[in-house]
Order: sequence, then structure tokens, then C-alpha cells
Amino acid sequence: MKISLGPEAWPRPTPSVVSSVVVGEAGTSKVVAVDLFAGAGGLAVGAEQAGCDVRLSVDNDRWSCETLRENHSHEVWNEDITAIRGRDLREALDLSVDENLVILGGPPCQPFSKAAYWVDEGKEAAFRRARAAGKTVDRPSESPEVRPDERRSLVDEYWRLVLESKADGFVFENVRSITHPRHRPVLEHLISEANRTGYETTLFFANAAEHGVPQRRQRVFLMGSKISKPAAPAKSHAPAEKSDELELLSFEPVGPALQPFAGKEYFEPEEVVTGKWAEHLRTVPPGWNYKAHTAWGGHPNPTWETETRFWNFLLKLDPDLPSWTINASPGPWTGPFHWDSRRLRVPELAALQTFPPGYQFIGPRRERVRQIGNAVPPLLGEAVVRGVVATFGAERSAAAPELVSA
Ligand SMILES: C[S@@+](CC[C@H](N)C(=O)[O-])C[C@H]1O[C@@H](n2cnc3c(N)ncnc32)[C@H](O)[C@@H]1O
Repeated sequence: MKISLGPEAWPRPTPSVVSSVVVGEAGTSKVVAVDLFAGAGGLAVGAEQAGCDVRLSVDNDRWSCETLRENHSHEVWNEDITAIRGRDLREALDLSVDENLVILGGPPCQPFSKAAYWVDEGKEAAFRRARAAGKTVDRPSESPEVRPDERRSLVDEYWRLVLESKADGFVFENVRSITHPRHRPVLEHLISEANRTGYETTLFFANAAEHGVPQRRQRVFLMGSKISKPAAPAKSHAPAEKSDELELLSFEPVGPALQPFAGKEYFEPEEVVTGKWAEHLRTVPPGWNYKAHTAWGGHPNPTWETETRFWNFLLKLDPDLPSWTINASPGPWTGPFHWDSRRLRVPELAALQTFPPGYQFIGPRRERVRQIGNAVPPLLGEAVVRGVVATFGAERSAAAPELVSA
């Protein structure tokens, strides 16, 4: 099913009605999936839309597991991956001989994120300040040294479970900066182990907007199959100015995606921006950030120099363009903000990630924002998982998600 973000797709204004999204027909699919590091289930929903029968999700975060249980009828384990063995998975799944197993997983990306190396020594910020001041300076080389971070080993844990469970295929997801020289050995090791153990692999660099998501979110996927090399998904969308020439659809803008939640009934107290820079935010035009208040941006009475703040400081959405990446742990002045100078509402964030209509997120707002910001947009996940499912010759039309009252 293609997710519709139109108003008719969100018939219920209040999220107080408990609902579940039941996707697929358990027991009839030839491709069974397990989602490790499942979070709110963005990748799992994508897999269901690609025709997989997702039978198990695992996450060590209590709120994520509650979200998964609220929306899915499959099994959810609130456990640490490191305590699970492949044998446990196979026993729980009770696979029949004609079922293929695919292991999905997006291990935590913080150890590989750009911030992880930029904040190390503050060299990048110093370089940008000097450049903005008109000085000629060399960009600092980013240290290729690997910092100790126990979460790195979760990539190994993911791979251990792919092997121990004798999976027929897998989808691994992470941030683009896992390809940075400092982290690349982790990815290269994963690829060489996969190839050595009989998987054909495809490394896919994705921009979610090129697959119909109203968000320019960049991620890396490693797709693997024991049958044949998975095909990376073809782009379906391009920037409006190039789409005709490329015979693709135009990028989905955020305006129509957010329009269904404009009403007062969706108001969230936390959306109100008050404090030090609230007035500055109000005068940032759509599509701009703090640079609207710099001399570079033409402000007659500038507050900041350009290149002295993070790029998403006071960043405001333009309704005619896709969103920038939704952040899992935004600070008080971190965008993207709504063009009405407020924070985005939870269902707006979910729509920018293409979660299905009515999908519920459980926990305090901070936890719900984190779950949504961490997710693979289901529409992108669907496109990627399809590439692996297709290698089994078992691709079938996805069952339409059906909303049911609990
Ligand atoms: C990037 S998020 C995954 C998002 C998910 N793929 C989606 O599409 O919604 C990573 C998840 O890994 C979970 N996690 C981190 N360490 C874990 C561990 N040791 N065992 C199980 N889950 C873990 C976190 O709670 C978080 O939900």
C-alpha cells in the first residue's frame, strides 16, 4: 500500500482512541522478518508494506516496545540484543521449510553520527568561525581514530544474530557518516563478513525524498541475500526543477503532509516557543535558519555572524519543499520548526516520516519525538526491503494496513 498523507487519511482528530495497525497476513507470507533494534517500528512497517510477515521485534527501550505493542499484533521482546541467541529467534519464529527469514536492523547510530566527531575537539566550529570572519584557513582533517564506544559492538551483535539464525537475507540501516574514514572499517568489515559467509550484498545510499518521503533524510542500507544480489530501489522522485527532465515525480513538499494537523484539536502545549530566541524565530522566513539574522543574510541589525551556529539552529520549514532531517533529540532551538514559528506536533513529525495514518507513539513527548526521529521512514524501508524480498521470488502485493480498534 502507498501511504496517503492527505486529510482523508487521518479521519480521527484525537489520538485518544486506541488503535492497532494490523499489516500483512500472519502465517501466509513466504518471507518472515525479525526487526532488531526495532524502535518505534519504522523499518518493520516498511517491511510489512513490502509483503513481509514481521513476526518479532526486539528493543531494549521500554517506550519503544509499548509503541510496537500498541500498533502491531506480532511478538515484541523488550530485551538487550546481546542476551539473545539465534536459536532463541528460530524457536520463537517456528519457521516452516518454505519460509525465508530476513533480519532487519538499525543499530544505534550515535557512535557514527557527524556530531560524534565534530564535537570531539571543536576544530570544525573554529574553522567555520575563521572562514566566516574572512580568514584563509585550511579545513581541519577529521581524525580517523576510532573512539571507544560500546555501541559500536552492537553492529557485531546484529551480525552475530544474522549468522546464528541462519537468515536468508538481511537489511542493515545506519547514518551516512558510517562511511566516514573513521567509521568505515566497521562497515567494510560487515560487508566482507557478509560476502565471506555467502551473502550477495548491495550498499545503497538513500535520500528519502527520492523515494516519496517529504523529508531529505540521508541513510545507508546494506542489503543482503543468499540467493542473488538485491537491487537497490530506483528513484521515484526528484527536485521539482529536474523532475520533468528525469521523468520522475517532484519531491513531496511538507505543506500538504502537515495540513491535516493544522487544527486547534492537534495543539500540544510543548509546541509553543518561548524564551531567549523566540522573537528571532518569529522573524525567520520559511526555509531559512538563524542566518536570517546575520549580515550575510542581509539583516540590518544582525545578532549573529554566519557559520557560528549549527545549521539547524532556528531552522524553519518551507511548506513548498521537503523537510530537513527530523532530529531524534532536538535541543530547544533546534529545527526544523513549523513556518508558524512553533515546534512540530507529534503527528506532524510522524507524517514527515510517512508512518501510516493512526500510528500511535507511547511515552512522554520527548520519548515520542525520539522514537519518530530515530525511525526509518516506512516508505523508504518498504522500497529497500522489497529489493531483498524480490531475490526470493516471493514478492507479493502488500496487504493494505487496516485500522482496528483495540
Ligand atoms: C536507530 S533506532 C532504530 C529505529 C528503527 N529501526 C525504526 O525504524 O523505527 C535504534 C534502537 O536500538 C535500540 N537499542 C539500543 N541498544 C540496544 C540493545 N543493546 N538491545 C536492544 N535494543 C537496543 C534503541 O532503544 C533504539 O530504539
